[in-house]
Amino acid sequence: MTGVRKKGGWATEDWLQAIAAELEAASTTAAVEAVRVAWLGRRGRITEALRGLGALPVEARREAGQRLNRLREAAEAQIKARLQVLKAQEEAETLAAERLDMSWPGRRPPVGRLHPVTRVRRLVEDIFLRMGFAMVDGPEVESLWYNFEALNMPEHHPARDMQDSFFVNLPGMVLRTQTSPMQIRAMEAAGGRLPVRIIATGRVYRRDDDATHVPMFTQMEALVIDRGIGMADLKGTLLAMSRALFGPETAIRLRPSYFPFTEPSAEVDVTCAVCGGRGCRTCKDTGWLEILGAGMVHPVVLQNGGYDPEAVSGFAFGLGLERVAMIRYGFDDLRLLYQNDWRFLAQFGRGEDGM
Ligand code: PHE
Repeated sequence: MTGVRKKGGWATEDWLQAIAAELEAASTTAAVEAVRVAWLGRRGRITEALRGLGALPVEARREAGQRLNRLREAAEAQIKARLQVLKAQEEAETLAAERLDMSWPGRRPPVGRLHPVTRVRRLVEDIFLRMGFAMVDGPEVESLWYNFEALNMPEHHPARDMQDSFFVNLPGMVLRTQTSPMQIRAMEAAGGRLPVRIIATGRVYRRDDDATHVPMFTQMEALVIDRGIGMADLKGTLLAMSRALFGPETAIRLRPSYFPFTEPSAEVDVTCAVCGGRGCRTCKDTGWLEILGAGMVHPVVLQNGGYDPEAVSGFAFGLGLERVAMIRYGFDDLRLLYQNDWRFLAQFGRGEDGM
């Protein structure tokens, strides 16, 4: 495109058309900028022409100057208009590319679930914390004194066979076979003060392995000591716990039993949650399921814990949490809990216990 210099001026109409054509062809804001530089930049055609005005005779200069200025204004307006169109286009393209469809369903991150035993553990802990019990904790590698002797099970006591032990490579130590050593530890920690009202949950270990026993399992121990504590307090506490765990219709049954550290002792059954007590495979048609051992704290145990059996009394019980999980969730092989089969564990949805 050449500027045709007519006599006394420039073909500004042609130039304007040329600019319009170039702008039309410019499809990006960068291309428009190139057009602007070519015409209006420091070495642009219109700029150069304006600069050349000085060489014209005075009358011609005035007329040409006006025309060139109009041309420049027209060119600037065209450029501006074209830029606006392109900017709007580019913006629309970016918006389309970055568009978020808010109606799409969100992507759920995979979330883990609490192990059924953990859920049951939190549930029973919660029940007893609300009843005013304190929670205590103790070692899984325990001394023979706490695990047996202090609990009225001296060496060669036949009852030690009920709980075949795992010994460890430290003299006088075992993996605790029960949470009952926490009875002694709690009494020691209370230092003779009353009342003692604690629970202790944790792992225990026994050389056992079948459909209803695993070598590592979880117990919750409860101990209450005060003046005038009787069997009725034990029964009331157990009934409240059982109903909170298995539903308000649940009944309990105490069967006379033997533990060296309680006297009298009982094994405690709850109404079978599977059949509601009518009798089924799970409860072997008895309508009852055994969940714990309990009793009134033996005088020797009170003494070993620093309490006077003439002045105070107490009850204790030990609850198997895997058992509770089986009953609550309705499965019949305890080993499933520890085989880490994702398909089994994933059935226990999050939150249906409220925890
Ligand atoms: N420690 C007993 C067991 O593991 C249960 C128990 C606890 C019994 C407290 C009586 C009192 O079998």
